Amino acid sequence: MDQAARLRDLVKENNSSVLQEPEKPIRIYTIFSGKGGVGKTNIAVNLAIALQRRGKRVLIIDADLGMANVDVLLGIYPKHTIYDVLFNRYPLKDTLVTGHEGIKVLPGGSGIMELAVLDVEQKEALGREFMALEDIDIILIDTGAGINKNSLSFISFSQELILVTTPEPTALTDAYSAIKIMMQFKLNKNTKVIVNRCPDSGLGKNVYGRLNSTTKTFLNKPLEMLGYVLNDDKVTQAVMEQTPFLVQYPNCSASRCINRIAEELLGRKELANGGISRINSIQQLYRRLLKVFG
Ligand SMILES: Nc1ncnc2c1ncn2[C@@H]1O[C@H](COP(=O)(O)OP(=O)(O)OP(=O)(O)O)[C@@H](O)[C@H]1O
Ligand SMILES: [Mg+2]
Repeated sequence: MDQAARLRDLVKENNSSVLQEPEKPIRIYTIFSGKGGVGKTNIAVNLAIALQRRGKRVLIIDADLGMANVDVLLGIYPKHTIYDVLFNRYPLKDTLVTGHEGIKVLPGGSGIMELAVLDVEQKEALGREFMALEDIDIILIDTGAGINKNSLSFISFSQELILVTTPEPTALTDAYSAIKIMMQFKLNKNTKVIVNRCPDSGLGKNVYGRLNSTTKTFLNKPLEMLGYVLNDDKVTQAVMEQTPFLVQYPNCSASRCINRIAEELLGRKELANGGISRINSIQQLYRRLLKVFG
C-alpha cells in the first residue's frame, strides 16, 4: 500500500512539474510597408537567416496574398501551401519548407484569403496543427505592400511591427499613411523602422528622425529605429541568383547591415521588455490566430 501511494505521489509530482515547466516564448514580428517594392521580402528572408545563425529557430510566414515570393527568393519550390492544410487536410508540419541554414517557411499564396471563412472544425484543425509544430523561437510575417484587411489581420496578430521604408519621399509618405491607418484601427503596436536602400548610414538616421517626429507630432505615435540597410547591388544580384545575399555575399554591405539589425533585435534592450513583446505558449499563439481568422 505504502509503495503504491509513494508511486502515485511520484507520478503526481512528475506530472505537475511537466505542467509547470515554462514553455518557450515565441516572438512574432509582422514586416509591413506603405509603398511596395521597398525590400520587405529581402529583409524577411535575410534577417531570418541572420537570426537562425545566432541560434534562434525562425519561421517565415509568407502572408503576401497577391505575389507570395519568399520561396522564389530562397530558390525553393513548395509543393503545398497553407491552402492545402486548410482545405485538403494536409499536415502543417509537412507544408513547412526548410530553407538555407534551417529556416522554416510556411508558403502562402492565394489560400490565405480564404482563412476568413473557416468553419469551427477547420479552425480547430488548424489549431491542432500549430500546436504540433516543432520548436520555434521567432516568427517573421512577410506581408504584401500597403495596408489592407490582410495585413491588418497580421498586424493585429503580432506583438511587434517592423516598418520598412526607403529614403524616397513617396515611400515615406506611404509609410506615414500606413501608420495612420493602423492607428485608426486602434492597433497601437510597438513599431520598429528599417530604412532600406540608404546611400549612407547618416541618411538612414535622418530619414528615421523625420518620420518619427511626424508620426509623434500628428499621430501621437513614436517609432523606434531598428536599423538601416545600405543600397547594395549585391542584393539585386542575389535575387537574380535566387539565393539570399547573406548566404551568397556574407560580407557585402547589405549583409553587414542585416547582421547589425539581428544583433539589435536580440540585444539587451529587447530582452529587458521581453515580457510584453513575447507570446508564452503555442496555445496563446493559436488563440491569437483564432482572433485573426475568426
Ligand atoms: N538594400 C538594397 N539594395 C539594392 N537593391 C535592393 C535593396 N533592397 C531591395 N532591393 C531591390 O528591390 C527589389 C524589391 O525587393 P523586395 O521584393 O524585397 O521588396 P518588397 O517590399 O517585398 O516588395 P513587395 O511590396 O512587392 O512585396 C529587390 O528585388 C532588389 O532588386
Ligand atoms: Mg514582398
